[in-house]
Amino acid sequence: MKISILNTGLSSQKADVVAVFSYEDEKLLASVKKDLTSQFPSASATLQSEDFNGKAKSAITLYTGIKSMPRIMLIGLGKKDSLTIESLRKAGAVAAKRAAACKAETLSIHAMDCDGISAADSSLALIEGAMLTNYRFDKYITTDKEKKKLSTFTLFTESKKTAAAAKGIVNYASAMYEGVTLARNLANAPNNEIYPETLAKTALSVGKSADIKVTILDKKKIQSLKMGGLLAVNQGSVRPPVFIVMEYKGGKSTDKPFVIVGKGITFDTGGISIKPAGGMGDMKMDMHGAASAIGAIVAIAKAKLPINVTTLVPSTENMPSGSAYVPGDIITFMNGKTAEIDNTDAEGRLILADALTYASKFNPEAVIDLATLTGACVVALGGVTTGLMGTDELLKSRIKKAAERTNEYVCELPLYEEYEELIKSDVADVKNSGGRGAGTITAALFLKHFIGDYPWAHLDIAGTGMSTKDTDYMPKGGTGVGVRLLLDIAKNW
Ligand code: BES
Ligand code: MN
Ligand code: ZN
Repeated sequence: MKISILNTGLSSQKADVVAVFSYEDEKLLASVKKDLTSQFPSASATLQSEDFNGKAKSAITLYTGIKSMPRIMLIGLGKKDSLTIESLRKAGAVAAKRAAACKAETLSIHAMDCDGISAADSSLALIEGAMLTNYRFDKYITTDKEKKKLSTFTLFTESKKTAAAAKGIVNYASAMYEGVTLARNLANAPNNEIYPETLAKTALSVGKSADIKVTILDKKKIQSLKMGGLLAVNQGSVRPPVFIVMEYKGGKSTDKPFVIVGKGITFDTGGISIKPAGGMGDMKMDMHGAASAIGAIVAIAKAKLPINVTTLVPSTENMPSGSAYVPGDIITFMNGKTAEIDNTDAEGRLILADALTYASKFNPEAVIDLATLTGACVVALGGVTTGLMGTDELLKSRIKKAAERTNEYVCELPLYEEYEELIKSDVADVKNSGGRGAGTITAALFLKHFIGDYPWAHLDIAGTGMSTKDTDYMPKGGTGVGVRLLLDIAKNW
């Protein structure tokens, strides 16, 4: 993926598709049409038609007859008064989608100046929307040999000032793109490609490329640390577990690290409490939390942010077998607490429990965990909003602000102690399932038993991590959710 910035006007672009934008407001639209008609007379009939009205996400293609820039796409932004950063992302996405439909490889986007939005923010939004849309998980498709893909993005502007601002976001945008793409690829990879050992190998190789120190704790080490949650879930699997530690030191050596924990269940069958067959294949994405935690630290490192970040990933499959853990088992975690297994399909919280205990070792500034943790969260918030829970008001408010900026929406659910009743056990300190009601909250309350003395927040991405269809700039399948959110949190820390 190549991003470049050009301080030139429309007529000097060289690209398969050049995207320009217009508001819906009548006068503004008329002036854009007039300007384009005078520059590109061959498009006059198209422009004179009423086919394009500037409504958000609408678009029309103009054929110029010019070899070096055969198509101009005029893309609607909606009413000028209601323009937001998110509508710019969506407009960038429309440009990239339509360009891809013409098999374009190069796309040049007009970095227009927008009232009330800084040139850096608007440039970033346009290129972000375009790049994030341009994703397909097609590495296993062998029949479609003609694999032309958009690979070069240009932002152009006549204004020197805007060009300078746009230059300033290039590195950040490409870091973000790398992190999100890595997370999507990891999430979408099937279980016969990404299982604990290969997830660890990927962490090692991306770490090398990004100045991140990576340590892999193997089964022996996990046993010696007495990570009973991770080991119990792993019992049914022939593949050993791993615990991945990734450390990026962009801050001062004395700065406490910001720790990100990701659920790394590379496949969740449910174990002995087995899931129904329909849709079970989606559970190859049950390591999306891990994918986002790894994608985020890579993005933060590539953006060279001045902060210390540590990513922790406990990883195993959840399989049924003669050696699998079973309901009724009582297990002991790294921190000495015990849990009664009520349902082997509530496995994510068990591996996260040990990771949250292990996090204390880093004396963290704050800990955020991400997990495709509960079906209940999909029921409550669908694919649009991530569930947010936690113990620290300041950390939660940082997350909410980052969510507003990135439009990776979050909604807070309460951790009232009254819910604790639901996960009380008669035979152990706590029970791993609280039944049907408040499933997202009881899962988080379970995790709360294992946190250390640090500010903690939990993001349930069960709904937002896996998309059932293409939306504006999110593809079907693994969305990469959380990477942009965490990158933004780190940038504004
Ligand atoms: N990985 C699932 C949660 C999930 C469900 C993610 C659907 C994405 C889409 C998790 O391990 C799970 O199975 N949770 C159970 C917990 C229950 C047994 C207490 C659930 O939500 O049903
Ligand atoms: Mn499960
Ligand atoms: Zn799971």
